[in-house]
Amino acid sequence: MRHKHILITGGCGFVGSSLALRLKEKFPQNRITTVDNLSRKGSELNRVRLLEAGIECKKDDVRYAETFTSFDSVDLILDCAAEPSVLAGKDGSPLYALETNLWGTVQVLELARRTNAEIIFLSSSRVYPVRELNAIKIIETDTRFKIDPAQTMPGVTERGISEEFPMGKERTLYGATKLSSEMLIAEYALLYGTRAIINRCGVIAGPWQFGKVDQGIAVLWMARHIFSNQKLSYIGWGGEGKQVRDFLHPDDLFDALSYELENFDALVGNTFNLGGGVSHSVSLQELTQICEKITGRNIVIDSVPETRWGDVRLYISDNLRFEKISGLKPKRGVEVIMSDIHTWIINHKDILSPIFAA
Ligand SMILES: NC(=O)c1ccc[n+]([C@@H]2O[C@H](COP(=O)([O-])OP(=O)(O)OC[C@H]3O[C@@H](n4cnc5c(N)ncnc54)[C@H](O)[C@@H]3O)[C@@H](O)[C@H]2O)c1
Repeated sequence: MRHKHILITGGCGFVGSSLALRLKEKFPQNRITTVDNLSRKGSELNRVRLLEAGIECKKDDVRYAETFTSFDSVDLILDCAAEPSVLAGKDGSPLYALETNLWGTVQVLELARRTNAEIIFLSSSRVYPVRELNAIKIIETDTRFKIDPAQTMPGVTERGISEEFPMGKERTLYGATKLSSEMLIAEYALLYGTRAIINRCGVIAGPWQFGKVDQGIAVLWMARHIFSNQKLSYIGWGGEGKQVRDFLHPDDLFDALSYELENFDALVGNTFNLGGGVSHSVSLQELTQICEKITGRNIVIDSVPETRWGDVRLYISDNLRFEKISGLKPKRGVEVIMSDIHTWIINHKDILSPIFAA
């Protein structure tokens, strides 16, 4: 692998640490450095795991140019630092999210310009606009919303949402920072020859994600079933828990990124939708059933019919473009993801209860 020194921003987060540890296992000779300011609750636990695996961890902030001045030989940057909440800025200043998600990308691009590092950017399905996503024709079943096969919205089939989806207007501040970052990457590619691949991910879920109400729904759902001192709520869309997302296991994300690293020259400049896809999609109601089956517990779930600002009724990644090129399909389904999360929480209850049971 030609990327001898890999920098992972947000490396102590869920995605960053998952990728860092898998990369270190696959390429033990390569140098991996992470930069993370440890602002996400729980990220300090991932830091310990990274250090144990021989990964360098810099506690620093991606918003500032000085964080990157000491790096002079980076071959690849995996940009995983973010304020990833779709509610960012809703009840206060948007500045932290804007500075981290957008100005942080600028710092990464500047480092790439200086060192010729290549970039894999973790973008999001949230680049697609809220109003148009909620205008997708839907069929309602007993447990979930489904995409109506008689669809008129461009870029939508029963497989999900493709890269051809219209880009419309509002997409939440989080989504706007991700789309703006993508646009800056394109400009750096044109002006300075910066080489990057962009992945627009749906929900990624698995162990070592410190799920909370506004981000990390799979872990939050399982944690609340295990530490049943707190309730859950079906919020929005009538309050019946029929909203749907596709889930991607970190191992499937790693398989896709490994393919991208091996085929970087052929894939450079591409933007891919990357998610679990329709066969690994689930509604909240169905997620509850899975949690009940795995834990043997039923908890009270409230119903809040009103839909929150920026919420989306259904998102399923149509991975066809990436699948056609790579021949890869996500292998691990929602049950596997939830069962992995369950095992992780049970095996680490002592260190996780201050985070999830608080
Ligand atoms: N998890 C998902 O479902 C999902 C889906 C689509 C895209 N993504 C993208 O993947 C990336 C990683 O997301 P995640 O789920 O691992 O989130 P996360 O919150 O677990 O990780 C982000 C990390 O960035 C760090 N961070 C935040 N602000 C920082 C700053 N100013 N300087 C340095 N570090 C900072 C946090 O401490 C945290 O460890 C993000 O770019 C996110 O937008 C995630």
